[in-house]
Amino acid sequence: MTITISISSTIGGSGKTTIACMFAHLLSANYKVLALDLCGQCNFTEVLLQDNTVRGTICDVLEIGNVTSYIVSIDENLHIIPGDQWICSSPSKFYIQGYKTPEVVFAMKELLNQAKTAYYDFVVIDTPSTSSKEVLNLSLSISDFAVMTYSPNKLQLIKSWLNKIKYVQDEFNPELRVGGILRTRFNDIEASHIFYNREVYRRHPEYCWNSIFHNSPLFSNIDSNSIKKVQVDTAFKAVYDELILRLLKTRKNGI
Ligand SMILES: Nc1ncnc2c1ncn2[C@@H]1O[C@H](COP(=O)(O)OP(=O)(O)OP(=O)(O)O)[C@@H](O)[C@H]1O
Ligand SMILES: [Mg+2]
Repeated sequence: MTITISISSTIGGSGKTTIACMFAHLLSANYKVLALDLCGQCNFTEVLLQDNTVRGTICDVLEIGNVTSYIVSIDENLHIIPGDQWICSSPSKFYIQGYKTPEVVFAMKELLNQAKTAYYDFVVIDTPSTSSKEVLNLSLSISDFAVMTYSPNKLQLIKSWLNKIKYVQDEFNPELRVGGILRTRFNDIEASHIFYNREVYRRHPEYCWNSIFHNSPLFSNIDSNSIKKVQVDTAFKAVYDELILRLLKTRKNGI
């Protein structure tokens, strides 16, 4: 069975794409992974796929409907459906056909679920922070395990994210599980970082990851070469190990 992990947040610049790249890269050492870029900035695609000649994108998938034709192989274990800056306009195709808002998400969800063939162990999705509501709903609708990246910011933003998850569970995807809140881009120096770091754990002990993705120059400008450096892998080890543990726990609980 394919497990779909999405990285999303109510906070822009909180490391979603960096985390998605690292998860896709590290998982692909042992598993078959499909990276799915649903963000119009296409940074996930830029980092993982160093090939500007690729023509088909996620918009073609949503337009034409044939998922497998647009999957690009990066290496044996890692494949990608490239992102597209115009993804926000993809829902309009369905509105023109007379679909109503929830039906648009269901129609796109059905298309993308075709990518979850038995071939892939994992699908890793990079999600935009701000986009059409359909694209965010779509990302969560096809996910089993939703991780929020939380960089120092208003704590209320976690509530907003949890409310969004609840909405998608109720409307589109009862299988969706909260994969947790991963504290990102924290340092141990600034008073606000120390405060928010503690508060997230205190307020959301059930969801807050133990490991933290600290601010580090190693991750300040990640590209396909740096992502493969052992140094980067090592600095990310605790976060990756916790991903695997949390996935196993979700499985064990029969979810
Ligand atoms: N742990 C880290 N330490 C230092 N820099 C980081 C770290 N994580 C991410 N960055 C840098 O911060 C910037 C934002 O990261 P990233 O693009 O991953 O965030 P994002 O949440 O995907 O942003 P957006 O909301 O724009 O999609 C990038 O320049 C990235 O290289
Ligand atoms: Mg991003």
